[in-house]
Amino acid sequence: MDLTTHYLGLELVNPIVVGACPLGTSLDSIRALADGGASAIVLPSLFEEEIMAAARAALEIESAGAGFAEAGSYLPNPEGYHIGPGQYLAHLEAAKSAVKIPVIASLNGASAGGWTEYAKKMEAAGADAIELNTYLLPFDIDESGAEIEQRTVDIVAAVKGSVSIPVAAKLSPFFSSLPNLVKRLEGVGADGVVLFNRFYQPDVDIESLEVAPNLRLSTSDELRLRLRWLAVLSAQTKISLAATGGAHSAVDVIKAVMCGAHAVQMVSALLIHGPEHIGRTLEAMTFWLTDHEYASLAQMQGSLSLAKVENPKAFARANYMKMLDSWEM
Ligand SMILES: Cc1cc2nc3c(=O)[nH]c(=O)nc-3n(C[C@H](O)[C@H](O)[C@H](O)COP(=O)(O)O)c2cc1C
Repeated sequence: MDLTTHYLGLELVNPIVVGACPLGTSLDSIRALADGGASAIVLPSLFEEEIMAAARAALEIESAGAGFAEAGSYLPNPEGYHIGPGQYLAHLEAAKSAVKIPVIASLNGASAGGWTEYAKKMEAAGADAIELNTYLLPFDIDESGAEIEQRTVDIVAAVKGSVSIPVAAKLSPFFSSLPNLVKRLEGVGADGVVLFNRFYQPDVDIESLEVAPNLRLSTSDELRLRLRWLAVLSAQTKISLAATGGAHSAVDVIKAVMCGAHAVQMVSALLIHGPEHIGRTLEAMTFWLTDHEYASLAQMQGSLSLAKVENPKAFARANYMKMLDSWEM
């Protein structure tokens, strides 16, 4: 079965891409994912805060003279699995030589600024594309939705302006008009969008009165939010679309592709089942496509987009009342 797809101008042998996660931190695991059938891998994000802290530390060292050991303590302590800017480029280069599949570097930031220049270094280190995660939380009561959208557009424009490799923006679902924002991103040169950033909801501990970080892996239920917006966007835009969030099974991948995804990222499913899960998913997809007499993945790509689906209202408001009415006591 021909599972080829085109994402960000890259030809991928199948739509399953490993999303940014700890599996991208070791070369052994990157090799296992490629051997397991992943068509591309997104490395874990390098954060704006990490880049800026490293730049500040470099300035301290410069002004205090080389060998000023304490300046090193300004470098962020890499919490959890994240690798700082010092190692990121070396890791990216090593990942590129370890596997033949495209390696996508990930930048994560929320304000327009000098950190976006780092994209150039990622390009020079061999990244096939850049995924730009603009994890923007509107905390400021004086900042309007329009300003937040503009900030997102500005960040994407800055990164796009500094590299010649493709750039995809990983977005949150909480925009008033996602289609319009995507149109504006396309206008500043974005090559694709990744739907959606998963906001990790902090919990609170009522005994210690603390905010407790609480990372839960996804389930397939989360895919539905992506399906609607894939269907809506694929009918109106030419840029690449990737789904991230809730893709666990062959059926999930097929649904996302039918709604218009060119690539489907997996993370939780791989953290739970390991890299072999990709091969099993591809096998099940091939079986389903053959059984339903598809000649290729391309043949069904976008077949459930808003432009092609028999009942487009099912994606829209009209279905809302019907769905609520369907509940049986
Ligand atoms: C442990 C963990 C680490 C992650 N690290 C990153 C990251 O560095 N950058 C990023 O953009 N997304 C990161 N993500 C989000 C994933 O790339 C993905 O978008 C999300 O998990 C939803 O996909 P899933 O349902 O397949 O898990 C991380 C997710 C997990 C579970």
